[in-house]
Amino acid sequence: AKVPVLTIDGPGGAGKGTISSLVAERLGWHLLDSGALYRLTARAAVKHHVALDDEAALAAIATKLDVAFPVVDGQPCTLLEGEDVGQVIRTEQAGELASQVAALPSVRAALLQRQRDFCQLPGLVADGRDMGTVVFPEAPLKVFLTASAEERARRRHLQLQEAGVDASLSSLLKEIQARDARDTQRSVAPLKPADDAITLDTTRLSIPEVVDRLTELLAQRG
Ligand code: C5P
Repeated sequence: AKVPVLTIDGPGGAGKGTISSLVAERLGWHLLDSGALYRLTARAAVKHHVALDDEAALAAIATKLDVAFPVVDGQPCTLLEGEDVGQVIRTEQAGELASQVAALPSVRAALLQRQRDFCQLPGLVADGRDMGTVVFPEAPLKVFLTASAEERARRRHLQLQEAGVDASLSSLLKEIQARDARDTQRSVAPLKPADDAITLDTTRLSIPEVVDRLTELLAQRG
C-alpha cells in the first residue's frame, strides 16, 4: 500500500520539530527528524576525529552511522554507537556543525536511503529542509513552515531560558541569520519551498493553531 507522507520543511527555529512530533503523535504516524541525522553525522565525525571538510571521510561516517531512536520509559532517546547524545546534539554549536556537513553533496547522498527507510505504514511526518523537494518529492501534502527571524530568535531564547541557559537575544538572532544564509545559499538541496508546497507563516500562530491547521489540510488532501 502507498504510505502517506506529510513533509514539513522550513528554516531553523520555525517550530518544525515541535509541530512535527505533535502531528505525528495525533495521527499515530512515524516521525523522521532529518536534522538529527545531520547533527549525528557531525557528532560522529568529531568523535572519530574526522575533519569537517574531508568530504569522502564524512560520507563514509554518514553511511556507517550507528544510530537508534528507542523509547525508554516513555521518553524518546537518541543513541549514537549506544551512547545517549539526545542533549549534546541539540546545542547551537551542534546545529552549526550539522549545517557544515549538510552542505556536502556526498554526505546528503549517503543519508538519502536511510531517510526514505522511515517511510512506513500507517504514515510518515518528515521534518527537515529538503523533505518535499528531494527526499519525498511524491508526498501528497508538503508544508513550508516559516516565521520571521526575530520571532524564531525570541522562541529559541525562551526555550533556552526555560532550560536554565543564559543566551543573548541578539547573538541568537545573528546565529539564526547565519544558518539561514548557509542553508538557503548552498548549491545542493538548498532550503526552499517545493513548487507544490503550502507556506504557513507561524509568526503570529500558537503551536495548537498550527497543529490544527495541518490536520485540517491533511483531511482535505488525504
Ligand atoms: O533541523 P535542524 O536544526 O536539526 O537541522 C540542523 C542542520 O542540518 C540544518 O541547519 C541544516 O543545515 C541541516 N539539515 C539539512 N537538511 C535537512 C535537515 C537538516 O540540510 N533535511
